[in-house]
Amino acid sequence: MATIHDLADDLSQPDGPLTAVVEMFPDMVFVVDREERILHINTLAARSLGGKPEQLIGRKQSTLFGPPWGERHSRFIQKVFRTGEIVVTETHQELHDTPLWIDARLVPLKAAGGEVRAVVGIIRDVSARVRAQEALAEREAYLRAMLDNFPFLVWLKDVKGRFLAVNQAFARACGRARAGDVVGLTDFDVWPRELAQRYVEDDRSVMATREQKDVEEPIFIQSASRWFETFKTPVLDQRGNVLGTTGFSRDITERQRLDEQLRAQREQLRALAAHVESVREEERVRISREIHDELGQALTCMSMDLAFLDRQLPKENAQAAARVSALAALVRDTVKTVRRISSELRPSILDDLGLGAAMEWLAHDFASRTGIDCAVSVPSNVSIAAERGTVVFRMCQEALTNVARHAGASHVSIDLMIDEDDCLTLEVSDNGRGITDEEVHRPDSLGLLGMRERAALLGGTAEVKGTAGQGTTVTVRVPLTGSPEAKP
Ligand SMILES: Nc1ncnc2c1ncn2[C@@H]1O[C@H](COP(=O)(O)OP(=O)(O)OP(=O)(O)O)[C@@H](O)[C@H]1O
Ligand SMILES: [Mg+2]
Repeated sequence: MATIHDLADDLSQPDGPLTAVVEMFPDMVFVVDREERILHINTLAARSLGGKPEQLIGRKQSTLFGPPWGERHSRFIQKVFRTGEIVVTETHQELHDTPLWIDARLVPLKAAGGEVRAVVGIIRDVSARVRAQEALAEREAYLRAMLDNFPFLVWLKDVKGRFLAVNQAFARACGRARAGDVVGLTDFDVWPRELAQRYVEDDRSVMATREQKDVEEPIFIQSASRWFETFKTPVLDQRGNVLGTTGFSRDITERQRLDEQLRAQREQLRALAAHVESVREEERVRISREIHDELGQALTCMSMDLAFLDRQLPKENAQAAARVSALAALVRDTVKTVRRISSELRPSILDDLGLGAAMEWLAHDFASRTGIDCAVSVPSNVSIAAERGTVVFRMCQEALTNVARHAGASHVSIDLMIDEDDCLTLEVSDNGRGITDEEVHRPDSLGLLGMRERAALLGGTAEVKGTAGQGTTVTVRVPLTGSPEAKP
């Protein structure tokens, strides 16, 4: 059996059996004696020193390397001779002006008695590895800088839910000083149990479905609950195996508060608009009634008195008689005007005969006032609560006013339909220039906005669509009976 002793002997023979093996090594190998003379050196090592093995054997290592490396090597070699122990060093050296990272292992070759006879140096150029490590570290530093400056919480977990990496914001959120402090922990170590349970379940579902999940969820930060929007994504390798999960969360507490505020303000505005609308309607009814009753009454009296005067006037006073009859005609016209104003304010037909009849009246009235041909189609009996009916009627009036003012139409049709779902649809279509999308959405299109708001208050919708040169259609859809939140 070969001993270490033989090995040293063999390596010191250029053509010993082990020489061939050492030649195959991907590392540089040399053997030195106590005087640091080269006993053996493989071709790879010799080449790096700029020679051939046979030229170098017998020379001192310090003469080959020159100071300061020769001295440094000498220190290590002598340490091995002294202690009999392996020395491992990783050093950075410049060899022929090329920076190198060298992993050097100096191994004692001991004789049977234990004394060190020679030292084998196994030297590996690890420059490529070190450079790759440095590049990786640099990349990691960039990534870390990016993540740590990210205002969101970012994390990466393995399949078992252990944190592999988190950013500074995440560490802060769970009360740790440094991101590294969280690595290796699980959700249960950093969050209250109930939340951790929830996060773990989310991770499971993300890994099972392999799909991103977007959730809004509470996170406790310094024992205050804040709302976060979180995106969780499975991490897959190239073969599609799940490696873990990654995610990021952004604080939406403030946004939610503003949304809530906005919603509340909108609700208030709606309620206010509804209130103003109903007050306006009541006012119209009151004024309409007052005009009708008071003025109508007075005019009727005037008319009767004029008839009386007419009868009392002497026949020969033709001039006075003519005045009286002109006055009577004026009073009759005024009665008509009063009726018109009163019914424009609030058509009594709406209260007396309902929405269908009121629409027919409206169409007729519109056609006679504007000269625009107006077709109307309403179901025979529309049963809708009075206030709802009034709102629909007002929306129709607004749509017709727009036709008269803006459309330049020669024809308009009003269609009222009730479908099986007890939903009422009102369609007002004209053949005018056609409203543009820009006009529909202009912030100062308050008439249209009012229509949409009124429809929304009844739990319905109002849509306006135009086609250039062909006309405009207003479609209002509202349920016949109101849900509690959709009171007019
Ligand atoms: N039937 C229509 N055909 C063509 N354009 C229309 C029609 N209806 C509305 N428009 C356009 O849409 C705009 C907005 O209409 P909206 O009813 O909101 O306001 P308005 O009629 O101008 O003023 P108001 O507040 O008095 O109703 C109008 O100014 C007009 O340009
Ligand atoms: Mg208008």
